[in-house]
Amino acid sequence: MPEDARFDAVADNFIYIHRALCHDLSGIIEGGARAFQTGFPRFVRILDKHTELEEQLFFPALEARSQGSTDVTRAPHRDIEERLRGLEALVGDVDASESRILEDLKALEETMGEHLAEEQRVVMPEMMRHFSAEELWALDARIMEFCSPEFMQEMMPWWFLHMDADDRVAVARNMLGGIDASFLPALCQWISEGLAAAEWQQLVAQVPALSQSSPTP
Ligand SMILES: [Fe+2]
Ligand SMILES: [Fe+2]
Repeated sequence: MPEDARFDAVADNFIYIHRALCHDLSGIIEGGARAFQTGFPRFVRILDKHTELEEQLFFPALEARSQGSTDVTRAPHRDIEERLRGLEALVGDVDASESRILEDLKALEETMGEHLAEEQRVVMPEMMRHFSAEELWALDARIMEFCSPEFMQEMMPWWFLHMDADDRVAVARNMLGGIDASFLPALCQWISEGLAAAEWQQLVAQVPALSQSSPTP
């Protein structure tokens, strides 16, 4: 069904990555100062890249077909960026108070949560309305132009670590649909790095194509 094909082609960038970002941030908040110091820099790198991909790749393409449809994202993106820079300045600051860090993290969580929900409600349907599934996949394939191998190596295990079992299956299937077979071993390596052995086996049982390439332990 064309609607399903379009949904699959946008879900990674509008649903599954959003959920992983929310999951990571709520874990950092739960983990307090220590989790902030160790986990926040990676969270920032991934959220910054997500915003960059939207602003450099997806949104200009959509604006070219539906002017004004990404206007709602502009102010929240700047607001989130400002909060990220403020919190980043507290990483490694031994004098920063835990209550201040937690207060700022919770404010970021609220702003980001509202923004991601609005993108899903407003922007995602516009992407599906104005592009075919083939065009959406072609845009998706261009993500690699914006990401270094080092970034991918960090982001992929992070993504699978922060998804639930159903989302992992959906994302793995989407990825397998778009990659060259020669890339499969690297993909399996990255995914398995984010998962416990039992989680990896559970995923492979549902997406058997992953078993054609066994990651090195
Ligand atoms: Fe965004
Ligand atoms: Fe987003």
